Amino acid sequence: MTDNLAALCYLAASVCFILALRGLSSPVTARRGNAFGITGMTLAIATTLASPGVLAFEFILAGLAIGGSIGTVLARKIKMTALPQLIAAFHSLVGLAAVFVAAAAFYTPEAYGIGSPGAIRAASLVEMGLGTAIGAVTFTGSIVAFGKLQGLVTSNPLVFPGQHAINATLGALLVAAIIYLCLNQSPGVFWFVVAISLVLGVLMIVPIGGADMPVVISMLNSYSGWAACGIGFTLTNNLLIVTGALVGSSGAILSYVMCKGMNRSFVSVILGGFGGETAGPGQAAGDRTVKTGGADDAAFIMRNAGSIIVIPGYGFAVAQAQHALREMCAILKAQGVKVRYAIHPVAGRMPGHMNVLLAEAKVAYDEVFELEDINREFAQTDVAFVIGANDVVNPAAKTDSASPIFGMPVLDAEDARTVLFCKRSLASGYAGVDNPLFYRDNTMMLFGDAKKMCENIVKALG
Ligand code: TAP
Repeated sequence: MTDNLAALCYLAASVCFILALRGLSSPVTARRGNAFGITGMTLAIATTLASPGVLAFEFILAGLAIGGSIGTVLARKIKMTALPQLIAAFHSLVGLAAVFVAAAAFYTPEAYGIGSPGAIRAASLVEMGLGTAIGAVTFTGSIVAFGKLQGLVTSNPLVFPGQHAINATLGALLVAAIIYLCLNQSPGVFWFVVAISLVLGVLMIVPIGGADMPVVISMLNSYSGWAACGIGFTLTNNLLIVTGALVGSSGAILSYVMCKGMNRSFVSVILGGFGGETAGPGQAAGDRTVKTGGADDAAFIMRNAGSIIVIPGYGFAVAQAQHALREMCAILKAQGVKVRYAIHPVAGRMPGHMNVLLAEAKVAYDEVFELEDINREFAQTDVAFVIGANDVVNPAAKTDSASPIFGMPVLDAEDARTVLFCKRSLASGYAGVDNPLFYRDNTMMLFGDAKKMCENIVKALG
């Protein structure tokens, strides 16, 4: 394949990736976006394989077969609730790949056309130093994020005295080491850069806890993009530079949007230490009482309502209640009740988590509303049906300045005439804080599994 044809194919693949991102921005066009992404990636891999620089295929094909098989098995087996940790694990691999490519280029620069050992081009050394640092930070940071999300290590923030000073010192040392590497090209300094970056990756993520994890995931996504971009420079592969920059910048924008959604400053999230309190079920209730009801009560209240807003959350995903909920809502709509769905930007455990579940159950897109579009409607709504959600409807975020989720925008479910709150107990949500909405006069707790509750309400409505 000629260089010109390869450049043209890479350009076409880049356009596909941009269209993929555009398509994925809405559930209506997400399928098309995925198709563009797959086309772009197929074209990119085929073009790379056809380039004259590829001398032997056995390792590439073996890598594709092993990686592709592992990816296929994982993607088929993984539960949707575990996707965030899978993504964190994948990010760690991108980071590690960046370190390996940089090491290969550092030891055999002639193979990459960037000079000879001890006489590597200055620009390549800068790219290599930055790519290695970002890659190593991404690698260990993603492993810690994986451990926290998988429950292997505590999701509480780990803070200790002098943490920020240590991080700042390590950061300064890293910059100095990269400059020194560019000047003297010593293998010892190269590995010193790797070592500091690995430590920094751990130290940057351990103080981040609870409700800030979504931002960490998208931030690591952004880092992995920049690491890939760095690899692109080392390999002089334009497509990798473009793709890495796309992932890096879209991850950064997503992090910013999430910080805005949670009313957090991006810098304070990175510096960590929020969302770590844990309130157990007993501790949450204290001497306060809650009103409880069953599926029959819920069916009665819903049948007599003019309008209902459904608020799904993480427990809804765990219970896989989407089909039962849709059936319940279809019956209510047939009985003349207006049904809408309210989606909080960080409901569940990944961006768009609830939208995917509702789309899977074929809920009409025009019934699904984002927080800012529906929050004012609760005051004119008869029933807010909170199903497996908790933090995203916690009024303490608005009223209790001591609460770790204070300032996070929440869905104003308590403004509805009646709140039907379906969950299994009075346990706290991901942020580990008690929810005063359980104890409000207009709240009825429907204790039980979300799917079973919907099925029982369907029976009671029947
Ligand atoms: P949470 O606040 O985590 O609450 C979910 C609730 O679901 C729990 O309190 C649990 O209570 C209940 N539940 C669990 N299994 C259930 C089942 N089978 N049936 C019924 N209920 C069940 O969820 P949320 O309101 O969606 O808020 C999301 C939280 O996760 C936020 O703090 C957010 O910052 C964080 N987070 C979000 C993301 C993204 S990107 N969305 C990523 C990581 C973290 P019981 O045990 O009493 O049933």
